[in-house]
Amino acid sequence: MQLENKIALVTGGSRGIGRAIALRLASEGAFVWVNYTKHQEAAHEVVAQIEAAGGHAQTVHADISDLGQIETLFGNIEALDILVNNAGYGDFVPFDKIDAAHFDGMFNLNVRGLFFTTRHALRVIRDGGRIVNISSIASRGFSGEGAVYASTKAAVNAFTTAISKDVGARGITVNAVSPGPVQTELFDVAFDDEAKKRMASNSVFNRIGQTDDIADIVAFLCSDGARWITGREIVADGGVI
Ligand SMILES: NC(=O)c1ccc[n+]([C@@H]2O[C@H](COP(=O)([O-])OP(=O)(O)OC[C@H]3O[C@@H](n4cnc5c(N)ncnc54)[C@H](OP(=O)(O)O)[C@@H]3O)[C@@H](O)[C@H]2O)c1
Repeated sequence: MQLENKIALVTGGSRGIGRAIALRLASEGAFVWVNYTKHQEAAHEVVAQIEAAGGHAQTVHADISDLGQIETLFGNIEALDILVNNAGYGDFVPFDKIDAAHFDGMFNLNVRGLFFTTRHALRVIRDGGRIVNISSIASRGFSGEGAVYASTKAAVNAFTTAISKDVGARGITVNAVSPGPVQTELFDVAFDDEAKKRMASNSVFNRIGQTDDIADIVAFLCSDGARWITGREIVADGGVI
């Protein structure tokens, strides 16, 4: 087990990619704080699954788009080794229908929430810690419908490189993982069957990514073996061409 005695926080750890990451980090021996906002039952199920496998975890509520709730969240956490900024969403509407609520909603969670969660975390993260930001290949551009989502993920990548310079002296690494399409609820809601088929065929493996494909990469970035990788974006899209 590579993460014994480590303490991890996974934002949005109750479902989808975050859930798989929480389970994977716990399987490597980390204690995992499983953050959620709406689906308490799902978060409890993740903790139950971790404990049934002999691991340790606890749920922690906070809406990461709310600065006050991020502060309250860190009232519960005294020490950390690993922060996975996973909570985020993408909403797709025609370009000329994008309004301020659409824009602010995504930026408040995907960018502002990630930024302030990281700042709070850095006060309690021990030297040699790990920060992994879940970005997206969408940052390379999307149609106008996905312009705001793409912009939030480009900001995540820029932030990743910028902050890595500030914390390098403490042996802390900061990296982004950019998945292509991954089979989760977010994905199911965003795309119809035809689009899903097309996206699967874009991968050299002719399939959609699974949450474990991403969790394994995050676990590696959190391990000692990844100590020389920082400030980078790891693209994990099954070879989309
Ligand atoms: N799925 C994809 O194809 C794909 C591709 C590239 C990148 N990503 C990125 O991967 C990350 C996870 O996506 P996913 O597909 O796993 O999403 P998902 O299945 O919709 O799960 C979202 C998770 O985030 C949590 N969450 C949502 N809003 C939150 C908030 N305001 N505060 C705290 N937690 C919140 C949810 O908590 P509750 O259970 O409490 O609602 C849930 O645990 C996102 O950053 C997304 O942009 C996804």
